[in-house]
Amino acid sequence: MKVVVTGSAGKVGKAAVAAVAAAGHEVRAVDVAPPVFERPDPGDPEYVQADLTDAGDAYAVTRDAEAVVHAAALPEPTHNPPHVVFRNNLMGVFNMVEAAVRLGVGRFVNISSETVPGFFFPERGFLPDYVPMDEDHPIRPQDPYATAKHFGEQIMDAAVRRSDIRCISIRPSWVQHEGNYERNLGPQVRDASELSPNFWSYIDVYDLADAIVLAVACDLPGHEVFYIASPDNVGNRDFEEVVREYYGDKVEIKKPLSRRDASGISIEKARRMLGYDPQRTWSDYLDENGKLKPGVQGLFSGL
Ligand SMILES: NC(=O)c1ccc[n+]([C@@H]2O[C@H](COP(=O)([O-])OP(=O)(O)OC[C@H]3O[C@@H](n4cnc5c(N)ncnc54)[C@H](O)[C@@H]3O)[C@@H](O)[C@H]2O)c1
Repeated sequence: MKVVVTGSAGKVGKAAVAAVAAAGHEVRAVDVAPPVFERPDPGDPEYVQADLTDAGDAYAVTRDAEAVVHAAALPEPTHNPPHVVFRNNLMGVFNMVEAAVRLGVGRFVNISSETVPGFFFPERGFLPDYVPMDEDHPIRPQDPYATAKHFGEQIMDAAVRRSDIRCISIRPSWVQHEGNYERNLGPQVRDASELSPNFWSYIDVYDLADAIVLAVACDLPGHEVFYIASPDNVGNRDFEEVVREYYGDKVEIKKPLSRRDASGISIEKARRMLGYDPQRTWSDYLDENGKLKPGVQGLFSGL
């Protein structure tokens, strides 16, 4: 298939471009980042610079596409003014879906976020009703980032009501690669009291890219939402024990757990309906002191 991958200069987009191309698809990589006006390296995908808040840009990059992976966004709300985050992310997804529906694209993979229920950036306290978090949990976002992601999922609902496009929203956990595992997760590996709003969950970027490839190729109808996380928690701690230690009985633990060291996010729906089967874990990258192991290499080495 001809697959447009937006946000291709970013973490998720870069890994998605590599995985989608490796799966045999023809990729058009799209980002607002400037192109390099030199001879491409062999195997480099087509690259088009576009600002997807502009409908003309969105239509231009979507022409001829059979599938879209939309990962372009400001990835959290704290480094830009709220209206900039909201406008950029909401208009980006709106324009890409509008173009995809009008141009007859068959599959839209919307990179949403684990924050949709309210995790991570609330102004007032948020605790989930239960963990591991799953797709049935009530939605209570507060901030502009999670709110725009929630509306993005509703834009998918609207698209499948008005056309034959098939949509999948992926809600990744906190995205990790060899260039940021140590910085992000090292403190939690060393000390579980380094609390994480998402209950010590994370996602390896290469497992996320594999899930994106599955989503591109699958023929599920309508719009389905899937959490994508690594199956274990940071530090491989006994999940029930750490939740009780740090949250007492304020949060229900939904049983049975998939494993003793379960993630705070359930991936059972993705396993069942998408065939998602994550292969990596934080300890492939970090030692027991949370330091990067020697010799770990990948797309993000040295970042
Ligand atoms: N990083 C995480 O932990 C995380 C977790 C859950 C969901 N997500 C989502 O995954 C997606 C990718 O995030 P990331 O971590 O790779 O972020 P990133 O910042 O590394 O990459 C995002 C890319 O999108 C591009 N972009 C932003 N606005 C654009 C626009 N208007 N037009 C074209 N390109 C634009 C940026 O230039 C950037 O290269 C985002 O939708 C983000 O919300 C990320």
